[in-house]
Amino acid sequence: MTRPTEAAVLTVSAAGAVDAEVDAVVIGVHRDGDQLGLGPGAVGVDAALGGRLLDVLARLGASGVAGEVVKVATLGATTAPVVAAVGLGPVEPAPGAPAPHENYRRAAGAAIRALTGTDRVGLALVDSDPTLTQAVLEGAALAAYDFVQYKSELAPTYRPPVREIVYLADATGRGDVELQTETDRAKAVVDAVRLARDWINTPPNDLRPPTFAAQAAAAAVEAGLEVEVLDTDALVAGGYGGILAVGLGSAAGPQLVRIAWNPPESTKHVALVGKGITFDTGGISIKPAQGMQDMKSDMSGAAVVVATMTAIARLQPAVKVTAYVPMAENMPSGSAYRPGDVVTMYGGTRVEVLNTDAEGRMILADAIARAGEDSPDYIVETSTLTGGQIVSLGERISGVMGSDGLSGRVKDAGGRTGEPMWPMPLPDEVRSGMDSAIADVTQINAGFDRAGHMLQGGSFLSRFIPDGVEWVHIDIAGPSYNTKTPHGYTPKGGTGIPLRTLLALVEDIAREG
Ligand code: BES
Ligand code: MN
Ligand code: ZN
Repeated sequence: MTRPTEAAVLTVSAAGAVDAEVDAVVIGVHRDGDQLGLGPGAVGVDAALGGRLLDVLARLGASGVAGEVVKVATLGATTAPVVAAVGLGPVEPAPGAPAPHENYRRAAGAAIRALTGTDRVGLALVDSDPTLTQAVLEGAALAAYDFVQYKSELAPTYRPPVREIVYLADATGRGDVELQTETDRAKAVVDAVRLARDWINTPPNDLRPPTFAAQAAAAAVEAGLEVEVLDTDALVAGGYGGILAVGLGSAAGPQLVRIAWNPPESTKHVALVGKGITFDTGGISIKPAQGMQDMKSDMSGAAVVVATMTAIARLQPAVKVTAYVPMAENMPSGSAYRPGDVVTMYGGTRVEVLNTDAEGRMILADAIARAGEDSPDYIVETSTLTGGQIVSLGERISGVMGSDGLSGRVKDAGGRTGEPMWPMPLPDEVRSGMDSAIADVTQINAGFDRAGHMLQGGSFLSRFIPDGVEWVHIDIAGPSYNTKTPHGYTPKGGTGIPLRTLLALVEDIAREG
């Protein structure tokens, strides 16, 4: 996999908004009642323009609404020829508005997207709060992404993402330029998110299980992590019935990748599991043609888990983390599994298959059972598991199921990082609705009842969690892949959700157990 564009370079400058040697400077404007107000970084620019900045912006139609970008040519009044004012929304946020960090992250992202084609962009957006600095750097750099590597030729009108993002310390009260921790962390996060997005966006003919496993292993080795790849033969020898049932319908055999981060001073052990269906046709229970192409994103959980491990290797949290990543292609064929099959899973549970399109839980159950053998304290699994997630929570909010304590921590971590999550229940009647007449458990509701079918996925997976282990299942069917237009720092295609949540959770566990 070659990269379409390199990540934007993140640098810090002691300059301010007026004298920075950049091609454009981003400032913030907010709504204050029905007035336009200047954000903290905009004061210097306003002075350089003789106090006329608000008037000019208002005449150009600026309202300060979140995400709006209005560009002003400064005609020599500032070193940068262009100032881009991005809306920060009302000073008193409306109900449902994002938290301040996410608001700044999105604003920085919207500005960087609006400045596509600009080479170097200075950020004069926030005040001296270092955690806001982090958010702004992250939002800006995450927005500087596109995926054009499959174009034979770039159109003459093509404009590349911003190449360099310069944090203007003086414009933001951070007179010191010692922002090493913030920029290093932002770089680690952004590189990892880009790696996940690139994998998700790669066409499924170029990312089948053996290729994906090899690329995941290479990324992990490069990051200095320990890797083990179980190929199809090893899966057969090991009795991974769920992964094999799904994967043997494809000529490109299934794989299980295990990646370990094992710092000496760790007290807890976190297992990360991610769904790696490189393409989901539905198998014998085949999906309709329309929209099927988006099922190249059915390996988002796997991409994010592997990419999270590379960020962990860079940030070195004091907690042991092991990733278990099953990869398979769900195809209909003469060797495909079928409705009615009873599959003996890794660990011995017998599953009655009712719908081959419920393949994610088949490969995940094996991976979870395997994870359980390494005695983790926490099992955190993420997958594009059900369309039911989209029906219940929409395209931007992931569904969280599992132990109460860990679900709460995941929801909090998601809230902090701008990856919203919402806890969902796993009621008894859903569990008992999956009792099989002939085997141990059915794979979906035995009566084919699709009501609340996101919960059926979570309930099925819960059976493979060892007793006493705190666990969580994060259904990212909608949030993992943006089929609509870009927004904030989110491009079209793979988003990288929930990488920032997983990383924040791991760091949280490293600190607090
Ligand atoms: N990969 C799909 C879920 C999905 C749907 C992800 C839409 C992203 C967007 C999953 O394997 C699937 O097919 N789920 C079925 C489950 C059903 C058979 C119980 C579904 O959602 O219909
Ligand atoms: Mn499916
Ligand atoms: Zn699937």
